[in-house]
Amino acid sequence: MLTFEHVHFYYKKGQPIIEDMSFTIGDGEFVSIVGANGCGKSTVAKLIDGLLTPTTGRIKLEQLDTSRPEDLHRIHEQIGYVFQNPEDQFITTTVMDEIIFGMENIRVPKEEMQDRVIHALSAVQMLDYAGAMPHQLSGGQKQRIAIAAIIAMRPQIIIFDEATSMLDPHGREQVLSIMRDLHRKGKTIIHITHHMEEALCADRILLIHQGKLVYDGDPLRFFETVPVSDYQLEPPFTVRVHRMLRSSVPLSADWKEMIRSQWSISSMM
Ligand SMILES: Nc1ncnc2c1ncn2[C@@H]1O[C@H](COP(=O)(O)OP(=O)(O)O)[C@@H](O)[C@H]1O
Ligand SMILES: [Mg+2]
Repeated sequence: MLTFEHVHFYYKKGQPIIEDMSFTIGDGEFVSIVGANGCGKSTVAKLIDGLLTPTTGRIKLEQLDTSRPEDLHRIHEQIGYVFQNPEDQFITTTVMDEIIFGMENIRVPKEEMQDRVIHALSAVQMLDYAGAMPHQLSGGQKQRIAIAAIIAMRPQIIIFDEATSMLDPHGREQVLSIMRDLHRKGKTIIHITHHMEEALCADRILLIHQGKLVYDGDPLRFFETVPVSDYQLEPPFTVRVHRMLRSSVPLSADWKEMIRSQWSISSMM
């Protein structure tokens, strides 16, 4: 379990970035963190991972505390972080080395590495690319290798920080499908996004606005009750259609009329 207790954070004194944030994420949850550009999502991700520490307040992973330097190694073993830009992920020269590099960082025993590499590359359907070099891969493939490197480290929590935002629709769908798969296998998934369609994959949405947590709850109630455009977010297509239908089609309309009006509304959007 991950807990934020009244977390405040600033990069520069007098300019608060995260203000009095408290929440708990249980093991095996799939949570989306959403909010406008610059609202503090990546800062929250880095605080979770212990890359940043709270100015005041506390962040705990079970009994570990990100503000205690002696706990950081075990925190890094438990939390994986997939960044936005697949171009930034590669540190080594081949796919295989990349995955080994991550495991070496958390001191995985040598004799376990081969099994873990095979399992991780299979999980992202990239086993045939073990010897490939980064420049031979598409953006989506690079992102899948970054995810494989994390899978091989076997963390409980994986943070995807806008990890789909630079991918084409196919790459994006593959990464989302890997996320769902990891969730089914019991991992805790924290998906940071400003694509509201993607936020619908989650069991729970956290909305951040100017460094404060302003919504924490299930996605359906979120879209029913939160005026997302006030937060520079666009409602998912299905929600927009639903709203327009509700306001433009009488409830007694038969299905043909519903479909006809849905098409004419969608073609206007
Ligand atoms: N290293 C940094 N130093 C100073 N300010 C920063 C730094 N990183 C981010 N910020 C500022 O913190 C705020 C939140 O940024 P960030 O967490 O990256 O937002 P998001 O991920 O939601 O776009 C922004 O105003 C940003 O300019
Ligand atoms: Mg960000």
